[in-house]
Amino acid sequence: MHRGKGMKFVGDSRIPAQRKPNIPKDYSEYPGKTEAFWPNFLLKEWMVGAVFLIGYLALTIAHPSPLERVADPTDATYTPLPDWYFLFLYQLLKYKFAAGDYTLVGTVIMPGIAFGALLLAPWLDPGPERRPAKRPVATALMLLGLISTVYLTWESVVTHDWEKAAKQGEIVEAEVDKESEGYAIYAEQSCIGCHGDSLQGGSGPSLLESQQTKESIMDIAVNGIGGMPANAFKGSDEELDKLAEFIAETAKANQ
Ligand code: HEC
Repeated sequence: MHRGKGMKFVGDSRIPAQRKPNIPKDYSEYPGKTEAFWPNFLLKEWMVGAVFLIGYLALTIAHPSPLERVADPTDATYTPLPDWYFLFLYQLLKYKFAAGDYTLVGTVIMPGIAFGALLLAPWLDPGPERRPAKRPVATALMLLGLISTVYLTWESVVTHDWEKAAKQGEIVEAEVDKESEGYAIYAEQSCIGCHGDSLQGGSGPSLLESQQTKESIMDIAVNGIGGMPANAFKGSDEELDKLAEFIAETAKANQ
């Protein structure tokens, strides 16, 4: 005789007293369509999941996703653009009814209604019908959402200035003729110390962007302007003429 026969030891209430064999219920109406959830079904699911996971991993390593650059606050030439899957929201903000004073409409209200309706769909449309043709309201709204998303994304792509975007962040080397007589005078005089060896600017502003005429440059070189001291130029009138001409021409050529 066993000890404790006819007696149940109660410990953890989650553990059944009688162990049931791991056999699926009898769904004889669905022949061949049933198996034990644990471990048979789950193991298969996990295996398929692992194949996809490793597949995606290999794909992202081989082809890094073609996303936009990271926004960089120190680079003023870079205009951040949302990645392709958010372009439709970005495009929405370009329309008058969703921009300016109405930004809230484009950022919160319209997307809120669309995504809110999607979330509430099971409660808003609880009918048992599954065929799209039998659910005209839900089908029409879904099609409307789909078409507007595709349309807005498309509009955003075709209206974006891709050529300009490609040039963003490129360092444009200014055309400065360093062999010219004018440049020799520019370098000889003090100008180069404040306006840079390619007229790009330094402690003084870039002269490439200057709108000054030759005459006013001659005047500035001698008399100074604002934060620029007078008598920066110390040379002959002929040299002054050549220097001013060189700066004016170079500036014009680079604008
Ligand atoms: C000590 C530094 C310094 C030197 C040297 C200097 N500049 Fe300047 N320059 C400046 C500054 C600063 C300004 C901006 C003045 C302002 O607008 O307040 C300026 C402005 C100018 C401008 C006007 C730019 C514009 O479009 O408004 C010209 C032209 C110019 N400089 C030419 C020259 C020439 C030519 C020389 C050499 C003979 C020279 N500078 C030497 C500091 C300098």
